[in-house]
Amino acid sequence: MSARPIAVVTGGAGFIGSHMVDVLVERGYAVRVIDNMVGGREENLAHHAGNPDVVLEKRDIRSYAPDDALFRGAKYVVHFAGIGDIVPSIERPMEYMSANVQGTVHMLECARHAGVQKFVYAASSSCYGLAKTPTTEDHPVEPLYPYALSKYQGEQAALHWQLVYKLPVNSIRIFNAYGTRSRTSGAYGAVFGVFLRQKIAGKPYTVVGDGTQSRDFLYVTDVARAFLAAAETEHTGRIYNLGAGNPQSVNRLVELLGGEKIHIPKRPGEPDCTHADISRITSELGWKPQVSFEEGVGKIVANIDYWRNAPLGPGFDRAGDQDLVRIHVAARESLMDAASKHLYSHKIKTAARSATRSARGRARRK
Ligand SMILES: NC(=O)c1ccc[n+]([C@@H]2O[C@H](COP(=O)([O-])OP(=O)(O)OC[C@H]3O[C@@H](n4cnc5c(N)ncnc54)[C@H](O)[C@@H]3O)[C@@H](O)[C@H]2O)c1
Repeated sequence: MSARPIAVVTGGAGFIGSHMVDVLVERGYAVRVIDNMVGGREENLAHHAGNPDVVLEKRDIRSYAPDDALFRGAKYVVHFAGIGDIVPSIERPMEYMSANVQGTVHMLECARHAGVQKFVYAASSSCYGLAKTPTTEDHPVEPLYPYALSKYQGEQAALHWQLVYKLPVNSIRIFNAYGTRSRTSGAYGAVFGVFLRQKIAGKPYTVVGDGTQSRDFLYVTDVARAFLAAAETEHTGRIYNLGAGNPQSVNRLVELLGGEKIHIPKRPGEPDCTHADISRITSELGWKPQVSFEEGVGKIVANIDYWRNAPLGPGFDRAGDQDLVRIHVAARESLMDAASKHLYSHKIKTAARSATRSARGRARRK
């Protein structure tokens, strides 16, 4: 048996999870991977084939009982398994709540039973809804999609396990991870996958809106390094925002990829800018991004063949377009409510402010 410390990585055949496996192996850990392969790919771990210190168990996280042997002797559990495509969650809320919340509870119970030293949860910045930027961890939470709600509830469950069962937990709210092995399925929101497939096909890039919207893209190896730091740190019960802290516009991405673009309509509920305030993670964990956006895009382009089978994205495929319209109509209906609430609360605040001002004015005049 290997004398290496053991880490369990859930969703370890997926995009971020497989890079997490690489970082842990390099750091001297034996890694046990759980993945039901709904989104994961065996080829993401192919470079570990033959390494007895990397074991892949193809199973659903919801099928594990607390005393499952896979967790025996584990030092850390790093939890990435879940469904990640945001917009379709509007049509399949039960599936998302089951995999992302109930699935997390199964992993927390296994971690608790094994007495691990740290459980690190992959949370999402989508919990902030349409947030003020740069966004700190104290920003109010307002999930606008079932996906966002499910990820937030998973985080709440993790923190609850620390409170009630003393399981040491940290949660990292990822903004926009990108890099090699990023998902090739799911045309919604996965801007890199769609653009790379379009580049391969020699088609123009389908830019949503005018392309000035920006995202706090962070290269995936920097994401994995942050999770390692959150596992190894003495800090527990902490929530960390994770981005580069330096948003990049979609137009800048097109510029780096090179080629023509066309514009498609804006999608409801999508922010104009995501921007993580990363002061907490940089100061508490001593982590900082190492891969620049230009360098990261270069690494992706060098591996462009990986995206050969990705969907071409909206505007190129009739079935895909109909699908997109249906989902967006559902999303728009639910988000109209949220938007009117925002407007309403803004109106109330403005009215309250002017009422206070005129009351003060009246008081002074008396
Ligand atoms: N990529 C991002 O920018 C981003 C942003 C915020 C949060 N996250 C979160 O990070 C995590 C990883 O995201 P990713 O981009 O690598 O996605 P991904 O889809 O590549 O990885 C998720 C993995 O989990 C596996 N999985 C899904 N449901 C499972 C289940 N019930 N049992 C076992 N395995 C299951 C999938 O097969 C896949 O390999 C997700 O939880 C996601 O919500 C990602």
